[in-house]
Amino acid sequence: MKAIDIRNKYLKFFESHGHTVIPSAPVIPENDPSVLFTTAGMHPLVPYLLGEKHPAGTRLTDYQKCIRTVDIDEVGDNRHLTYFEMLGNWSLGDYFKEESIAMSYEFLTKELGISADKLSVTCFAGDDDAPRDEVSYECWKKAGIPEERIYFFGKDDNWWIAGEEGPCGPDTEMFYDTGKPKCSENCNPSCGCGKYVEIWNNVFMEYCKGKDGKITKLQQRNVDTGLGLERMAMLLQGVETPFEIELFAPVMKKLESLQKQDFIQSRRIVAEHLRSSMMMINDGGRPSNVDRGYILRRLLRRMTRHLNKLEIDLAKLPEIIDTSIEALKEMYPELEKNRETIKSVIIEEKDKFMKTLEKGEKEFEKVVTKLKQENKIKLEAETVFNLYETYGFPPEMTQELALEAAMKVDMEGFDKLFQEHQEKSRLGSEAKFKGGLASTGEMEVKYHTATHLLNAALKVILGDHVHQKGSNITSERMRFDFAHPAKMTNEEKQQVEDLVNEWIQAGLAVTAQEMPKEDALKTGAECMFIEKYPDVVTVYSIGEVSKELCGGPHVKNTSELGHFKIKKEEASSSGVRRIKAILEN
Ligand code: ALA
Repeated sequence: MKAIDIRNKYLKFFESHGHTVIPSAPVIPENDPSVLFTTAGMHPLVPYLLGEKHPAGTRLTDYQKCIRTVDIDEVGDNRHLTYFEMLGNWSLGDYFKEESIAMSYEFLTKELGISADKLSVTCFAGDDDAPRDEVSYECWKKAGIPEERIYFFGKDDNWWIAGEEGPCGPDTEMFYDTGKPKCSENCNPSCGCGKYVEIWNNVFMEYCKGKDGKITKLQQRNVDTGLGLERMAMLLQGVETPFEIELFAPVMKKLESLQKQDFIQSRRIVAEHLRSSMMMINDGGRPSNVDRGYILRRLLRRMTRHLNKLEIDLAKLPEIIDTSIEALKEMYPELEKNRETIKSVIIEEKDKFMKTLEKGEKEFEKVVTKLKQENKIKLEAETVFNLYETYGFPPEMTQELALEAAMKVDMEGFDKLFQEHQEKSRLGSEAKFKGGLASTGEMEVKYHTATHLLNAALKVILGDHVHQKGSNITSERMRFDFAHPAKMTNEEKQQVEDLVNEWIQAGLAVTAQEMPKEDALKTGAECMFIEKYPDVVTVYSIGEVSKELCGGPHVKNTSELGHFKIKKEEASSSGVRRIKAILEN
């Protein structure tokens, strides 16, 4: 089934169930500087979820053009997209769980013809904020999903909120079983191994999270759902990646016919970034150095670099754009209308970038040659920043080139410099670079210490090759990227988790000691990028188990951390794994 047919079926189905079809909002939100892009169908509907009356009634449905850029660095693998279309239906204080689940089940099995055997679902397990979602469980059973394919998970998996505050609630998610073998005995929809693909999320928005973090009941019970169109098309067409569906396939083929080098990853990046850029430009976006414009610039520049990598003559860019518009115009006729504007914005940016690239790459080569002569394998944050500031060379480009040259880059350090530099100009939260401590509340401090323990435990269980590649902490979870060539087995995950908890329970003291950098290295202290540190550094030790160069802050004793739990282990990039973990009370 083609994507447009799925979209049409969806809207018609919900229309027949009393919903009014409303138009998609632009990907660049109108009158809302607080977010960079529309990231979900519910976004333009927030006031109505909070209680305002919607002129089209209490049952709505639409397709929404969405941009999510947090995954920008992962595009090029087989599933991440920066632009995607979300099909959604809403109850604004109208129907609730029972009807919502019944309609979803009917749509999936009857309208799309998905066999019920292929479906698994997850429900919210309950906590202090909201009870275990027995109602959804019963509804699914009634609909026809057997007990053994109904799973319960906590907030990390089955609670939905857009960002930090606003309407939210427990959700129930539907998964499609690809038929791949289980990755382990405990393989389930939340494990991320690829056997189960999430296809639809029904959020029961009866709560609201305030600025103070408190969760209260809304005046009405809403339903907010989201179904990823490209993913659904991919599954229904029986292909492995979204790049094989009709919205991308013609561009992929075109690129293949023009390329002199064969890199599937690069073709995907070009096809994907081109589409996202066109959708942004179509809704008024223009490349610049801040906020939305900077994301667009990043997409276009990364696209151009991959066209170069494929050795495609850049004079062919207008043809490639035309091919993409052809593939998309049935779904988005507005692209055809704005064809000339889209082309001129993209080509102008490409020309600018080529000039930048030439200068920047030369400078990069100089820097790397010098470092290699000095037997250094890492690029300092200042170097990355200088390339960006003086030559306009994008940091992510430095990172990519460095990877190709087998050099490491202090992106976290760069991040700090960049943020210092940007303090005056407000930079949207999505444009933030990965890594670093955004703020240091009590939980962040705990997660920071837990990060050191995790790093140490991974070394013990997996081996000394484990090395930190990045880290990102919020008040709700930690994320840790590290070099390791293979997926961790469940046993390994368990061992790591157990070891961290053992250390927590042991009540190890966390101590800081200042010393000259040379001495710190002699003690064998872990660090990510030694050359960026000043001559006198702080070494944080946790009992005898961990020693790292670090700026802190940390808890005083590991007993303050609570229970450590690994939620997910997945690929981050080639040779780099990512662990998401939480601390529980
Ligand atoms: N708003 C929900 C989501 O984006 C449906 O998953």
